[in-house]
Amino acid sequence: MIPARRLGLLLLVAAPGCAGPRNYLGATGGPIAGKLAGFGWVVLGVALAVVVAVTGLLVAAIARHRHEPEAGGEPRRRGRGLGWIHWGGMIIPTVILVLLFFQSLGLLEQLAAAPRARVTIRLTSHRWWWDATYLAQDGRTLIPTANVLHIPAGEPVRLELETADVIHSFWIPALAGKTDLVPGQHNATWIQADTPGTYGGQCGEYCGQQHANMMLTVIAEPRAEYERWLAAEAAPAVEPAGGAAAEGAAVFAGRACAGCHTIRGTMARGRVGPDLTHLARRPTLAAGLLANSPANLATWIAAPQAVKPGAQMPHVPLPADELQALLAYLQSLQ
Ligand code: CUA
Repeated sequence: MIPARRLGLLLLVAAPGCAGPRNYLGATGGPIAGKLAGFGWVVLGVALAVVVAVTGLLVAAIARHRHEPEAGGEPRRRGRGLGWIHWGGMIIPTVILVLLFFQSLGLLEQLAAAPRARVTIRLTSHRWWWDATYLAQDGRTLIPTANVLHIPAGEPVRLELETADVIHSFWIPALAGKTDLVPGQHNATWIQADTPGTYGGQCGEYCGQQHANMMLTVIAEPRAEYERWLAAEAAPAVEPAGGAAAEGAAVFAGRACAGCHTIRGTMARGRVGPDLTHLARRPTLAAGLLANSPANLATWIAAPQAVKPGAQMPHVPLPADELQALLAYLQSLQ
């Protein structure tokens, strides 16, 4: 048993976490989220009512029988209390579970009926980051990007989900429930953000050491702004005219970075890690673990295994001047 004081402290510590971006019960970001939150409250209410009722009955039974002798007293009447077992243990739980089951089936059917979407994104999960490819209506690839999805607000967006390794789960609590990405299987889901804003997401299925640091951000913006972003993202990287950035481009190509990363418009065509063509425009690094600042970028490149142990990003020892040039180049990738 947890003492009451410690339980109070635990609730105090846990409560602020409930109001954060992972709070699906308060999710009002879009049509799916609202329905799921409504059903979540129903299930939570029923579960709490059951806990209160069962605890009350248990306490009442203990209070009633606490003075009875343990053995050797009056022999119990056979079959006494069987009604409690039939009703409380079988009939009532069955009715509750069947009702919730059919309600959840109805909800699943509503959510599966995806409206026609003008935006389709193929999302491929890797340990531990998200590879995103925006697709044209005819299936052509528009742009590859990673870890941050821009979507137009107020309209449905279709997501095709695949995984490059193990099972992960797509989850943007404020916008939609989880959908797994399963090896060898093509899953699909859809999201919609009613209002512009930034919505935090998280891999929802344990996938190894850095599961907790496999974040995904959705930025919903008015359609015109989204289209500007898409056009800018589709453009190849601008080759630096000279100076430190140009030296950095040579470091990137010569120091194995190009073997894993693509920078469109250059010889860097690696497909192991995220596309970095417009890295400087992304708000985060390392799948949401770090804000995209010059200092964090330097830390991430200098000691990736200290920042995100187990990640595929290797430590490439660089002399200080090469590191500075590389940083100048990466920050030029607007
Ligand atoms: Cu990917 Cu957990």
